Amino acid sequence: MDFGMKNRLSRIFKPKTGKTVMLAVDHGYFQGPTTGLRNLRATVTPLIPIADCLFITRGMLRTSVDPRSDVSICLRVSGGPSILGELSNEDITTSIEEAIRLNASGVGMSIYVGASNEDRTISNLGRLINEAERYGMPVLAVTAVGKEMGRDARYLGLACRIAAEMGAHFVKTYYCEEFYKVVEGCPVPIVMAGGKKIPEIDALKMTENAIKEGASGVDMGRNIFQSDYPVEMIKAVKAVVHKGATAEEAFEIYLKK
Ligand code: R5P
Repeated sequence: MDFGMKNRLSRIFKPKTGKTVMLAVDHGYFQGPTTGLRNLRATVTPLIPIADCLFITRGMLRTSVDPRSDVSICLRVSGGPSILGELSNEDITTSIEEAIRLNASGVGMSIYVGASNEDRTISNLGRLINEAERYGMPVLAVTAVGKEMGRDARYLGLACRIAAEMGAHFVKTYYCEEFYKVVEGCPVPIVMAGGKKIPEIDALKMTENAIKEGASGVDMGRNIFQSDYPVEMIKAVKAVVHKGATAEEAFEIYLKK
């Protein structure tokens, strides 16, 4: 791995702990103005100083994030269908040149294992990695978005392993029972997506479990920005990820709202 790739990865995974708290705010690329992100700038501005990395599209980055912010960027570079269409029908929408121009530390795209366009999305991942590696740009493969396809260790393990086999530098997936099995079968770091909004204590417990079972952090969206107290929630998540706090200890941080 060359200097550029390692240096970019260290902007995402903090060298002190080897972990990351990514704030996912890319939902609008297929969902439109999602609850909590209608005014993305207003929601995200107070969270930026706490997050290690923002997962965001180029349009929202350009229009809604202060370029002087000291936060790393992982750029969502796939898209196409809206929530009204066939989600798996995605293609790559943003070039590596654009990612470099925007000073991204990584790029991310979805693969749809088990969906109608799984083959095209997986070969698109391979092509994106071929290009990204020429520039030392890490690639995040996002797995298991969309239709519920039995989010168990068998399915998520399959999806994450395929992403790693294609050469993804890190993978995002959901938490599940026996999550450690997903981690075992995937030789690159896994970050946990949060999924639908659940009570804060439950989201913190899920984070604690994921970290204990080998996750390298989170790429969490709705459970942070749809919380009544997003700043306190991301601080609590950060304590679990970087300091090994238990969910109960982290919940105390949340309660300091
Ligand atoms: C989904 O396509 C997006 O990539 C989100 O970034 C991902 O689902 C994580 O967000 P959340 O924690 O809200 O599930």
